[in-house]
Amino acid sequence: MAKGIFVVGTDTGVGKTIVSAGLALVLKERGIRVGVMKPVATGCVGPMNRLVSPDAVFLFEAAQNEYAPLTSPVRYRNPVAPSVAEVYENLKVDIKSILKAYRELTKIYDYIIIEGIGGLLVPLQKKYYVANLVREIGLPILIVSPIGLGAINHTLLTVDSALIRGLFVKGIIFNRAPLVNFSLAELTNPKVIHDLTGIPILGSLPELDDVDVEHCRFGKLPEVFKDRINVNAFLE
Ligand SMILES: Nc1ncnc2c1ncn2[C@@H]1O[C@H](COP(=O)(O)OP(=O)(O)O)[C@@H](O)[C@H]1O
Ligand SMILES: [Mg+2]
Repeated sequence: MAKGIFVVGTDTGVGKTIVSAGLALVLKERGIRVGVMKPVATGCVGPMNRLVSPDAVFLFEAAQNEYAPLTSPVRYRNPVAPSVAEVYENLKVDIKSILKAYRELTKIYDYIIIEGIGGLLVPLQKKYYVANLVREIGLPILIVSPIGLGAINHTLLTVDSALIRGLFVKGIIFNRAPLVNFSLAELTNPKVIHDLTGIPILGSLPELDDVDVEHCRFGKLPEVFKDRINVNAFLE
C-alpha cells in the first residue's frame, strides 16, 4: 500500500490546507517525492470550463507536482457540500475518477497527501461521505483541529466518527496556537484530548502572519512546521 495521509478537519476553515502544504514542503525538503490531492474541491474560481481550486494550487505549488488534473479531479464553483454542488452544477461527484487519479499518483510519488473536504461527515454524494472515501482509499487520517475553546468536543466527535467507521487515526495537529498569551483552553486542550483519546498529538502550529492560501504565499510555514510538528511520525 502507498504511504500517505488523508488530512481531515474537525470543520471547514480549520487549517487543512495550511497543514497539508506544510507537510508537503517539509517532506519535499527531505527529498521525498510527494504527491498531493484535493479529491473534490468546492469554491473554485475562474471560467466554468476551467475552474481552479485555490486549495489545490497551494498544495500543488508546495509539492511542486507535475500533474494538475490528478491533483484536483472534481471541481465546483459553489462553496457548499459536494452532494449539493453536484445537483446545482449538474456534474456528478465521480468517485471512480477520484480513485483512479489517486492510483495514478501512487505510481508516480512515494508519499501522497490528500486534503479532505470539510469534516468526515461531509456528503460527497447522497449517503456517501468523506469517511467513505477515506475507507476506499485506505490511508490513515490526520485530524486538524483549532486549538481553542470547542476543540475537545469537535475533536472527540471526529475521533469517534473515525473509529466507528474503521479508520486509523495517525494523530492530531492543533492549529492557530497563539504565540503568547495562551488562554486556559488553548493551554490545556492538547493534553486533555490526548488523555481522553490516547491518540498521538503531533504538534501545534502557531498563528502565522505571512501565510496566504489565496495568493499562494508560504511565508515561514516550512520552517515553523519543521520546528513545531513531529514530521517523523508521518513516515513511520
Ligand atoms: N496557522 C495559521 N496562521 C495563519 N493563518 C491561518 C493558519 N491556519 C489557517 N489560516 C488561515 O485560515 C484560513 C483557513 O485555513 P485553511 O487551511 O484554508 O482551512 P481549510 O483547508 O481547513 O478550509 C486560510 O485563509 C488560512 O490562510
Ligand atoms: Mg482547504
